[in-house]
Amino acid sequence: MKFEKSILCIGAGYVGGPTMAMIAHKCPDCKVTVVDIDKERIRQWNSDVLPIYEPGLDEIVKATRGRNLFFSTEIEKGIKEAEIIFVSVNTPTKLFGAGAGMAADLQYWEKTARQIKRYADADKIIVEKSTLPVKTALAMERILTSSDNEIHFEVLSNPEFLAEGTAIKDLEEPDRVLIGSKETDRGVRARDELVEIYATWIPRERIVTSNIWSSELSKLVANAFLAQRISSINSVTALCEKTDADVTEVARAVGMDSRVGNKFLKASIGFGGSCFKKDILNLVYLCRQYGLDEVASYWEGVIRINEYQKDRFVLTMLGAMFNTLAGKRVCLFGFAFKADTGDTRESPAISIAKRLIEERAELVISDPKALKNAVKDLEGLDGTVRYMEDPYEASYGCDALAVMTEWGLYKDLDYERVYRSMAQPAFIFDGRNILDHKRLFEIGFNVFPIGKPALTHF
Ligand SMILES: NC(=O)c1ccc[n+]([C@@H]2O[C@H](COP(=O)([O-])OP(=O)(O)OC[C@H]3O[C@@H](n4cnc5c(N)ncnc54)[C@H](O)[C@@H]3O)[C@@H](O)[C@H]2O)c1
Repeated sequence: MKFEKSILCIGAGYVGGPTMAMIAHKCPDCKVTVVDIDKERIRQWNSDVLPIYEPGLDEIVKATRGRNLFFSTEIEKGIKEAEIIFVSVNTPTKLFGAGAGMAADLQYWEKTARQIKRYADADKIIVEKSTLPVKTALAMERILTSSDNEIHFEVLSNPEFLAEGTAIKDLEEPDRVLIGSKETDRGVRARDELVEIYATWIPRERIVTSNIWSSELSKLVANAFLAQRISSINSVTALCEKTDADVTEVARAVGMDSRVGNKFLKASIGFGGSCFKKDILNLVYLCRQYGLDEVASYWEGVIRINEYQKDRFVLTMLGAMFNTLAGKRVCLFGFAFKADTGDTRESPAISIAKRLIEERAELVISDPKALKNAVKDLEGLDGTVRYMEDPYEASYGCDALAVMTEWGLYKDLDYERVYRSMAQPAFIFDGRNILDHKRLFEIGFNVFPIGKPALTHF
C-alpha cells in the first residue's frame, strides 16, 4: 500500500506507543513506525500483551497494527524512510557529574540525534516529543547540522501533555496541542505540516503554536503547576489534622472559586510518576543555572512537601499502632503511582514500603496491574515482602491496611469480610481518601484518613 506520509517515532514507551497509535488510528493515510533499542519492548508491542496498561490502548493498537502502525527495532531503515521523526526517548534525572540529582540526563536524546544525522539521506522534520530543558532544540540543531552535508533538519517542539491512565482519552480530545517552531519560513512550513496531521481529529482552536522556547518551557511549567496544586493541598492536610478541619471540605470550598477550579485538589500521600519530580528538578536546575536562586527555591518547595507527606504518612501509622511496627503485617492496597496504570515509577508506595521495611513491618502488596513492577522496585531489600493480587488474600491476617493507589476496586470490597480476617485491633490508613470512613469505623476498624479527624475505638 502507498502511504501519503511516513512518520517515525524513536522511543516506544508510555508516550511513544500511545501517541503513535492514535496518529495511526486517525490518519490511515500515514505510515507510522515506532522503533526502540529495547528488543523485548518491541516484541511486546507486537504481541497480545502490550508492554503498558492503558485503558483503550489495546483496541486501537489491534485495529491499526500491521495496517499503518508498525513496531520495529530497525532504526536505520526507519530514519531513512520517514519525513517526520518524533523523538520520544526517556529523559530521566541525571544521576552523575554536574547537575546530578537535578538536571535532565540527555544522553539518550543526544544518541538519537546522532543516529538521525548518521542515517538520514534527505530533509527531515524532527519533532521533540520528550520533555526537555528549554533550549534543547538549539543543541539538537547543532548536532544535526554539525557536518557540511546538504540535508536540512527542521526541529519542532511538540511536548506531550497526556496523563497515564487517561492517555487515550487525552490523545483523542486534548485540552490543547502545542507546537513550537522557529519563526523562519522553513520553521513555519514544518509547523504547518504537523498542524495538518493533528487537525485531522483535533479542532484547530485547540492547536496552539508558539516560538520553540516557549513550547519547551511550557511543558516544564505545566507539570510544575500541576504538582504544585497537589503539594498545596497536601500541605494543608497536616494543618487539618491538627485542627479537626476536613481537607475534603476545605478543598471543595476553595475549588468552587472559579479562579482556582476544583481539579487536582485531592489530598493524598503525594504525587508520583516519572515526570513531576524530574521536571520540577529540571526547572529548578535551569533557574539555578541562570542565577535565579529564589525562583529555584520556590519550586523546590513543591518537592519538599511531597517528601514530607510520605514521611508523615508513615509516622501517622507508627504513632497509631503504638509506636512499633516491628513484626506487624501491613497490607498495601495498590502500588502503581495512580489508578489505571501499571506504572510504578516514583510511586509514593515505593518510599512508603521502604520506610515500613525499615520499621521491620512485614509487607503484603496488592495491585491489579503493577505487581511485576513492584517486585522490581523492591528487589534486594532485607525484609519480608509478599505479593498477592487478590485483596482479600492479601489482607488476610494483617494488622493494618494502607491504601496507596486510588483503584476503584478498593472502594467496593466487602470490608466486613476483610475486617473479620484481620488481626485485631485492625487499622486502615487511607492514603487516597477513597474509602467510606464512617462505615469502616462502624465495622470496627480504626480509620486514619488524610487531612481529617481519625476515627478510632480507643
Ligand atoms: N510518561 C508520561 O506520562 C509522560 C507524559 C508526557 C511526557 N513524557 C515525556 O516523554 C518522554 C518519554 O517518556 P516515557 O514515559 O515514554 O519513557 P519510557 O522510558 O517509557 O520510554 C522511552 C523509550 O525510549 C527508548 N530509547 C532510549 N534511547 C533510545 C534510542 N537511542 N533509540 C531508540 N529508543 C531509545 C527506551 O528504550 C524506552 O523504551 C520523557 O521525556 C517524558 O518526560 C512522559
